[in-house]
Amino acid sequence: MFFALRASIFTIFKISIPYLVKKICLLCSLVNIYLKIFMKNVLVIGSTGQIGSELTRELRKRYGNDNIVAGFIKGAEPTGELKETGPAAEADVTNPEMIANVVKKHNVDTIYNLAALLSVVAENKPRLAWKIGVDGLWNILEVARENGCAVFTPSSIGSFGPSTPRVLTPQDTVQRPGTIYGVSKVTTELLSDYYFKKYGVDTRSVRFPGLISYVTPPGGGTTDYAVDIYYAAVRGEEFVCPIKKGTLMDMMYMPDGLHAAISLMEADPSRLKHRNGFNIASMSFDPEKIYQTIKRYKPDFKMVYDVDPLKQGIADSWPDCLDDSAAREEWDWRPQFDLDSMTVDMLKNLERKLK
Ligand code: SER
Repeated sequence: MFFALRASIFTIFKISIPYLVKKICLLCSLVNIYLKIFMKNVLVIGSTGQIGSELTRELRKRYGNDNIVAGFIKGAEPTGELKETGPAAEADVTNPEMIANVVKKHNVDTIYNLAALLSVVAENKPRLAWKIGVDGLWNILEVARENGCAVFTPSSIGSFGPSTPRVLTPQDTVQRPGTIYGVSKVTTELLSDYYFKKYGVDTRSVRFPGLISYVTPPGGGTTDYAVDIYYAAVRGEEFVCPIKKGTLMDMMYMPDGLHAAISLMEADPSRLKHRNGFNIASMSFDPEKIYQTIKRYKPDFKMVYDVDPLKQGIADSWPDCLDDSAAREEWDWRPQFDLDSMTVDMLKNLERKLK
C-alpha cells in the first residue's frame, strides 16, 4: 500500500528520488546557513571597553538582543543601553571556571575576546598584560575546545616591529615587536593558530589599526591621539600632540572595525587561507594630516607638539601602512570610511555628545 502510494506520488508529480534528495540537501544547507548567520549565541568578553561597547550593540542588532551576552569584570559593569538591552554576565578571562559556566549557561557558540591592555599601559604593567592577553586567551581557548565555540581575538599593528617592512607591510612577514603589547599579540596569533590546527577550534583574528570612535574613549594606546584630537577640536581647546609630525600609523573608523570583526567571523571557512590574524587597513596619516583635515571644518583649531618619548618610541617601531590584500581576497574586506568622511562623522557626533 505504502509503496503503491509513493510510486503514484512520484509518477503524478514527475519527481525522482535523487531529485528529492537533492532538494532536501539544499533545504538543509540553507537552514544551516541561516542558523549559522542568524542564530548565534555570542559572549563578548570586555563588553564595556572601547571596542566591546559598540560591538555588543552591533551584534545585538544583527542576531537579536537575547543572544548576545555582555561579559564584564568587577568594576566595569555594563550600564545604560548595554545593560538594559540584553543579558550580561561576569566573565573574567583569568578565571576559566567562570568563563566555562557563562558559556554553558547561555549556550554560547562564539566568543569575541576583547580583554587586553593597550600598548602604553602594557609597557607599564607587562606581567598584567601577559596575564590578561596570553594566559586569558589560553583559558578561553580551552573553554572553546571543550564547548565547540568559535573565538575572535584582536591582534594589532603592534604585532609588528622595527625589522618589519614599514610600507605596505605584507600579510606574512617578520614579526619581532619590541613592546610587551606586541609580544603578547604575536603570541595570541600563534596560540590561536595552534588551537585551530591541533584541535580544530575555529579561531580568527584581524590586526586592528588605531580605532577611532566617539562612543567609548580608548585607554592607554599609542594611537589614542587620533581620538583625543577630535575631542579638543569640538571643545574649542588647543590640542597638545604627543606624537611627532611625520609619524605615519594605520587608523580606522570604528564602524569599519566592527564590520571587519563580524564579517570575518561570518566568512566561509573554506576560503580562509589565513586565520590569525589578517592585516586590515583603511587610512594612514600623521598628526599633521589629521590636523589639517579637522581644520577644514574647524578653521580656528590649533595644535602644538609635546612629544611623549614612550609613545613616540612605540609608534616609531610600528609600520606606516599595511597591505590588506589577503583580507580583501579571502573574505571580501572593504572599508567604507576615509579620513575625510570619518572626520565629518566624528565632528557631527561629538558636537551632539558634548553639547
Ligand atoms: N590602538 C592600539 C594601541 O595604540 C594599537 O592597536 O595600543
